[in-house]
Amino acid sequence: MGKGLKEEVLNDDLRYNLRPWVVQTNQNPIAVSHAKGVFFWDYDGKRYFDMSSQLVNSNLGHGNKEINEAIKKQLDDFAYIAPAHAAYTRSNLAKKLIEKAPSNMAKVFFTCGGAESNDNAVLIARAFSGKYKIFSSYRSYHGSTIGSGNLSGDARRFAAERPSAGGFIKFLTPYIYREKIKFKNEKDISKYYLELLYDQIIAEDPSNIAAVTLEAIAGTNGVIIPPKGYLEGVRKLCDEFNILLHIDEVMGGFGRTGRLFAFENFDIKPDIITFAKGITCGYVPLGGVIVSKDIANFYDTNQLLCGLTYNAHPLACAAGIAALDYYYDRYIFKHVRKLGKVLKQTLVSFEKKHKSVGDARSIGLFAALELTADKRTKKPLSDKIPHVINLLRQRGFAAIGRGSNIIIAPPLIITKEELLEALEILDEVLYIVDSEHEK
Ligand SMILES: Cc1ncc(COP(=O)(O)O)c(C=O)c1O
Repeated sequence: MGKGLKEEVLNDDLRYNLRPWVVQTNQNPIAVSHAKGVFFWDYDGKRYFDMSSQLVNSNLGHGNKEINEAIKKQLDDFAYIAPAHAAYTRSNLAKKLIEKAPSNMAKVFFTCGGAESNDNAVLIARAFSGKYKIFSSYRSYHGSTIGSGNLSGDARRFAAERPSAGGFIKFLTPYIYREKIKFKNEKDISKYYLELLYDQIIAEDPSNIAAVTLEAIAGTNGVIIPPKGYLEGVRKLCDEFNILLHIDEVMGGFGRTGRLFAFENFDIKPDIITFAKGITCGYVPLGGVIVSKDIANFYDTNQLLCGLTYNAHPLACAAGIAALDYYYDRYIFKHVRKLGKVLKQTLVSFEKKHKSVGDARSIGLFAALELTADKRTKKPLSDKIPHVINLLRQRGFAAIGRGSNIIIAPPLIITKEELLEALEILDEVLYIVDSEHEK
């Protein structure tokens, strides 16, 4: 693993690889040589805490023996078999997921990732309901294909929108930290936004609306936790107007919040759940759409007009079974709930002592620190975020930043000692940021 290889990796990467979401020049990627547990290393032997679990998907960290072995075993039997055939890993993973999902859920359609899952969820919701409009939040990200890109509410939808695919309606969802109206409490925030949504549903004509799509907790837009009663109110509106509720669990699912699904922190049952990321923790790409009994029954007599060569890829399903077993056999969700308290306590203390921290939001091991130039005006420090991410990186803390937020979402297997050590680095960097904008 000499320096020569590092140069070759970086040169070829910059020359031949198109990197998502960035202007291609002046990129400075870390050339990763190996990874284990909550760490990865570059070719110079420098160690990094993987504090955003890559793209909030490496939930069980790197080099998990059980997942590796499960993939190898499936590879020895067969790597691939077409969706028309039945395969043990495929059927077993579907069964395990349905057994763990809410009791109204019945079947799974597997895909290769989050965007594809949401695309197919839209197709399924439209076919089942006979309606076409899909509501989603401005503060959401659901993927970057033409379909899921149009479902996304944040600016990453713009490329997919030109020319716009029809039927994608955006609505405003609550953001407790940034509400302009002075509400008395969370319930009042929910009431206000539910009334707005009610009016918008009426204006769009409920007889055209197939589904409302929401992340239970908006992830990349800054771990935005809904106020009390909001999701339950959306569920009620969906029931009132015969609209399907589709919850996107691509980022929040598989233990991130201390439960299998993030929506389980609230009192709702969706009609459609999409998932990806943590189902295999990135060992092999996999995603899927879980549908209710009513939708599954519909397809008993109607053709499913969805299909992928790599639907339920056996290697990915093998990884999914091993990951799911690992979550439950090792009580990972309980561990997340316990460590989530440590994370919350530390981040709240950062909010109190650091001038640059406007808000600290977290649930389980899913957190965002929102940086502001001024705590009173809440002016976002968005243009500073790349600099902060760089300061962290120099000190061996790898994390993603978006908008004015640093996303902290370490692998769920992180120990308390590792978490506290990493948070010390964050603390040190926040002192630098505080002093920089004092000047
Ligand atoms: C909530 C949510 N949905 C969908 C996606 C898209 O998933 P993928 O990148 O696997 O297509 C993401 C990706 O970050 C996401 O956070």
